Order: sequence, then structure tokens, then C-alpha cells
Amino acid sequence: MPIIRSDISGLYNYSLEERQDLIAKLVKLSSDDLKILRNLGYLSSIKLNTMIENVIGSYQLPMGIATYFKINNKDYLIPMVIEEPSVVAAASNAAKIARKHGGFQAEKVSSIMISQIQLTHLKDISTAKEAILKNKSQILKMANELHPTLNKLNGGAIDIQLKELNTKRGAMLIVHLLVDVLNAMGANIVNSMAEAITPYIEQLCDSKVYLRIVSNLATYRIAKCRAVFDKELLGGAEVVDGILDALAFAEVDPYRASTHNKGIMNGIIALALATGNDTRALEAGAHAYASLNGKYSPLSKYSIDADGNLIGELELPIALGIIGGMTKIHPMANISLKILGVKSAGELAQVAVSLGLAQNLAALKALVSEGIQRGHMALHARNIAKLAGAPDDLVQKVSSILIKNNVFRLDYAKNIVNRLLAGEKL
Ligand code: MEV
Repeated sequence: MPIIRSDISGLYNYSLEERQDLIAKLVKLSSDDLKILRNLGYLSSIKLNTMIENVIGSYQLPMGIATYFKINNKDYLIPMVIEEPSVVAAASNAAKIARKHGGFQAEKVSSIMISQIQLTHLKDISTAKEAILKNKSQILKMANELHPTLNKLNGGAIDIQLKELNTKRGAMLIVHLLVDVLNAMGANIVNSMAEAITPYIEQLCDSKVYLRIVSNLATYRIAKCRAVFDKELLGGAEVVDGILDALAFAEVDPYRASTHNKGIMNGIIALALATGNDTRALEAGAHAYASLNGKYSPLSKYSIDADGNLIGELELPIALGIIGGMTKIHPMANISLKILGVKSAGELAQVAVSLGLAQNLAALKALVSEGIQRGHMALHARNIAKLAGAPDDLVQKVSSILIKNNVFRLDYAKNIVNRLLAGEKL
């Protein structure tokens, strides 16, 4: 690797193409690399430049469709953007199993976000609290003046809650501004409202405000769903039993709980990416919620019904938007929303939580039966077959030989391809 220096001043002033040239030159990219970098796909350089800084390209990932989802009696095709094989197939498989007993039942999800304002250096916390509560309607009015349209649509700042915290730097008063952000994810809305009301609050309370920012622990946007997974379709009582044991394991062991929840987020994040939503906010919220009672726990629950079927339930905060942010700017996010046909952010959260449960169930089902690698290997084998030079009409044959013999080496695949091409019957 060539030795490079990273102190490039004003990279943002370069055009996108100049940046590509500069980086290519600095790290000695090949002309093929540069060709890939130059291919921006469906995103124009203007669009890319308005999304982030120092853009040098656009990064593609596969987008798939999860099938068989019925949620609150409505069918959905769910777009998922993810690099991991088997995830889309697994979700579809779990949704097919749930369908036998009516699919997923998801509760209504509200759209209230919390913004936190941190008051420090307070002379007297009680007086500060009183001052804020006395002027609550004025504070809410100031916040709402910033987003009159939201307010007209019956959204906007609706309440203020106060919380005293004893920290190692002294007592602090935390103001929670509650805002109904309707169909937006809402971080930008609540951040700008919090910033707008801060000088007034500072003056009211004679204090110093540092942070004024959204909380990603969106406890007013809890999404909940439930589904019954048919015992026979799951593979019988032993699989049901195994899933209950897998959950019991996760309930007492954070090492397992973290992977259990990762499986849930495989689905939710893939949908968030497909719809142009903030995936980091969702992850942060989910894992904070998983440890809200002081112990990191699995986000889903399983039990059995009278017929031995498995009942799955999932609950977590889901702050997703269908307007604002990237959702309308990114053409693929737009297409995803059309495929989904959701009418509100709350409905999208219902789809997300159902997808999360399906993903979790599918992972557990695989783990307690054939293991997770078999599904992974099916796609992997196809890739190896292609890499080994199998023509399109032989890819399936070569990959099934690799799977049957449980050998996934390229040299082995090449040998199979050559023998098949030479007319050998394998
Ligand atoms: C892999 O992406 C997800 C799983 O590890 C989830 C789980 O273990 O429950 C299979």
C-alpha cells in the first residue's frame, strides 16, 4: 500500500470527478477501479453532493422482496436492502408460516418523538421547574411557530416533561419536549424546535443549556406485534421446544441476547435502508430499549398456545418516516414506499416490527434445526460456481454438487465445471 497523507485541505471544494481522480491517484486505484467509482448509477452527482460531504461515488447493495406478509389482514410486499444471503428468504418463509393463522397482528404506533434539553448550573431546580411549567403553553407555542404546517395537520409540540438527574457534574434538569412528528422520522423537526426554545428556557431558569437534541430511545413510538407460527409448518414440537429453549438462553445471557436481537434488526434495518431511513437511530433505540430494565434482554417473546403452536411477540421503539429526510430524495426509497403502499409512518413501523419478528423466528427455527449455514451456503455455492467459470445453464448443477458434498472450495468447483463441460455425467 502506498503511504498516503490524510490532511487534504478543502476536499469539499473539489468537483466529484476531481475528488475521484485525486483519491485514485493517492491510493493508486486501477483504471477498472476508477471506472466503478465513476459509475454513479441512478443518483446524479448533484443529488449525491447534496446528501453528504466529500462524495466520491455511490455504493450499491442488493434490494430484495420479502413475500407472504399479511399484517393486520393486509398483504404487503416488503423491500429489503441487505448484503447478507438468506435473510430475505428466511423472512418470507416465516411470514408464510405465520399466514396459516392469520399473519401478523400489529398495534397502532404513535408518532411522538422526544427532544431533550439539558439545563445545567441551576441555582435552584424547584424554581426552574416551576418557571417552565408555568410557561409551558408559551414554550409549546414558540416550538410550534417553527413548524406551522405540522401544527395545522394536528401534529407539533404537545407536551413538556421534566426530569431531575444527579450526575457526577452536579444536578441537572432535563426537559423532554414531546412532539407529534406525524409521518416524519422527526429528528430534524424536534432538534430545531429544541434549539428554538432554548434561549427562552435558559432565561426563564437562569441556567446554562448545553445539549438540545432528539432522544433515539423513542418510547412513545413503540411498535408491537404478535403472530402464531404453526407447529407443523415449523417442523414439529421439537422445533417449538428448541425455540423456547433458545429464548430462555437469550433471557439470561447478554452474549446470546445481542445476537438474538441482531437477527431481529436484520429485517428492520433492511427495510429502513430500502425506505431511506436512519438505521443508526433505530439500532440505538432498539438496544437501549432492550436494556431499559437494567439488564440487556431479548426484544421478542415466545410461548405456546393450546394446540402447541408457537406464539411470537415483538416490541421495540421504531422511529421511521415516510416523508422528509432521504425518503423522498432517494429514488429507490421512493420506489420502496410505492411497493409497500403504506399510508403513514405508523403503518411502516407495523410492517417493520412484523418483519423483525419474522426474521427472528426464521433465524431461531434454522438454528434449532439444520443450523444457519445451510441457507447461507446455497447462495454461496452459486457464487463459487460462477467464479469457477460455470456457464449460466450449469450454475445450478455445480452449486448443488458443492452443497451435496459440503465442499465450497474454488479449485474443487473448477474441477466440477471442467468435468461437466467435458461431458462427464455427475
Ligand atoms: C445472522 O445474521 C443472525 C443470526 O445470528 C440471529 C440469531 O442468531 O438469532 C442467525
